[in-house]
Amino acid sequence: MSQTGNRNRPKVVVTRKLPDIIETRMAELFHVSLNLADKPYDQEALKAAVADADVLVPTVTDKIDADVIAAAGDKLKLIANFGVGVNHIDLAAAQAKGITVTNTPGVLTEDTADLTMALLLAVPRRLFEGEKILRAGDWTGWTPTFLMGHRIQGKRLGIIGMGRIGRAVARRAQAFNMAVHYHNRTRLPEEVETDLEATFWEDLDQMLTRMDFVSVNCPLTEETHHLLNRDRLKKLQAHAVIINTARGEIIDEEALADLIEVGRIAGAGLDVFEAEPEINPKLLELDNVVLTPHMGSATIEARVAMGEKVLINIRAFVDKHRPPDRVLPY
Ligand code: DGY
Repeated sequence: MSQTGNRNRPKVVVTRKLPDIIETRMAELFHVSLNLADKPYDQEALKAAVADADVLVPTVTDKIDADVIAAAGDKLKLIANFGVGVNHIDLAAAQAKGITVTNTPGVLTEDTADLTMALLLAVPRRLFEGEKILRAGDWTGWTPTFLMGHRIQGKRLGIIGMGRIGRAVARRAQAFNMAVHYHNRTRLPEEVETDLEATFWEDLDQMLTRMDFVSVNCPLTEETHHLLNRDRLKKLQAHAVIINTARGEIIDEEALADLIEVGRIAGAGLDVFEAEPEINPKLLELDNVVLTPHMGSATIEARVAMGEKVLINIRAFVDKHRPPDRVLPY
């Protein structure tokens, strides 16, 4: 880890390599420990980091569990997460220790929705099968029946989780003339529902039986862990396709792979996995599954904006203001 910045300022430990422009500004503002080699911290390294930091800047690859929080020194008062999802942080333990937690909402919404649409098109239009054939030199030319897929126009899309990203997906789906359906803990205000031409389903099971496509866009919590378990997945129509750009653990990945393998589900587009970066080997074998390496927010614009949010949250906290993107205290 490399130390830089002004040593009289708050000590900020950043666990992964961030865009240069963000690291440079961090060094101007704080006494910062950067991870230029970008090697993930293990649990011992995380414990050592929190023992001596005023602020920790982790990401989704760091498991900030109760043991790590217990190892935090008295100085640690802020965890400023680089990312919107905070399922990797034990919030109850942080709350009990009076630690503030912030995240980076709003700036990766459109990029994640774009990737959702990319997968939603890639699976039924068989883009990666085509690519593979072409690169292998196996394409013998156009024929009327080669690589026929399915159109998305006029199909029903069921969105699970109608927060910022779910709604951005809905707007895109409207533009593709899909019929938007959704399941959410709370129903959207009438004007938003009308605007998105979205049909609400209080009962997730009932929605699943009727959809052509399902997009997972809810956060991972205790309630949403394996929300799409084997029984629920079996409720899908055999021609249905699932897209997940939220968190792998929301779907029982083993069950999904089994059901796609036997043709009970038509395919999947997955950007997130249960045991990242491990991928269920069965999924790797399936041609009707498109896999991307957790890159929903991977645009330069989003990653810089996420870094700016981290800077603003830390700066506000250090200046004794309420950081704008507080997850904790509630
Ligand atoms: C997010 O912001 O939650 C992305 O998935 C990376 O953590």
